[in-house]
Amino acid sequence: MSTYQPETYGESVAGLYDDWYADYDASMIDMLAELTRDGRALELGIGTGRVALPLVARGVEVHGIDASPKMVERLRAKPGGAQIPVTFGDFADVAVVGDFDLVFIVFNTFFALLTQAEQVRCFRNVAAHLKLGGVFVIEAFVPDMRRFDRSGTTNQPTRITEDTVELDVSQHDAATQRVNSQKLVLTNGQVRLYPIQIRYAWLAELDLMAQLAGLRLRERWSGWRREPFNAQSGKHVSIYERTVNER
Ligand SMILES: C[S@@+](CC[C@H](N)C(=O)[O-])C[C@H]1O[C@@H](n2cnc3c(N)ncnc32)[C@H](O)[C@@H]1O
Repeated sequence: MSTYQPETYGESVAGLYDDWYADYDASMIDMLAELTRDGRALELGIGTGRVALPLVARGVEVHGIDASPKMVERLRAKPGGAQIPVTFGDFADVAVVGDFDLVFIVFNTFFALLTQAEQVRCFRNVAAHLKLGGVFVIEAFVPDMRRFDRSGTTNQPTRITEDTVELDVSQHDAATQRVNSQKLVLTNGQVRLYPIQIRYAWLAELDLMAQLAGLRLRERWSGWRREPFNAQSGKHVSIYERTVNER
């Protein structure tokens, strides 16, 4: 039986996350601030605040949800981090109070929901927390089967120095659209494992989940500078709008 839970990834990487992924795209902050329209924003999987903190610095009221106490501890230790309201829990359930102009989930984090049923539930719950005309923004990779060999595995060194090798090892199950991975960090006499499991979703599948939730695809870009999306795009920034009043 798997012991992998919504908090597993965050609890394992919290101490290293900011060393690995400190950078953010300033255009992302520009677009998210613009989409909030002077209202309120909610980030699903707020983590250590890589995105939320620069957004707050732009004057946006940001709330967050996360399952990992250790990730949020890192956020709260940063200047301004303790003032951001964070709800602990699974973002499939979006158990927060109030409505938002913008709900967003970046950096492939939507795929942390490991079944289609959870992903559908997340869309529905997001829609229930969006103001009319509010938007749900997803940044994620476009699935690319060429990454995997015929056995469904991939091994990729991501960093090699004189005393360290970092290696991403993945196993793909095309039937469930699940990818179970480990980041291995090998140093002299020590091997550390950082598990990450995802379920990717195809673009048409995301759009259908949105439709089931009463949301409509308004725009799709291949990057935060509104670069056009086409068949070669490796990632997408999708903006779904709440247009119907079903409540
Ligand atoms: C890749 S990190 C992204 C953090 C931040 N959004 C960023 O861009 O740097 C994913 C975050 O989502 C959280 N997370 C993953 N699955 C979750 C779930 N089902 N419910 C709530 N949080 C979850 C993790 O704890 C982690 O903090």
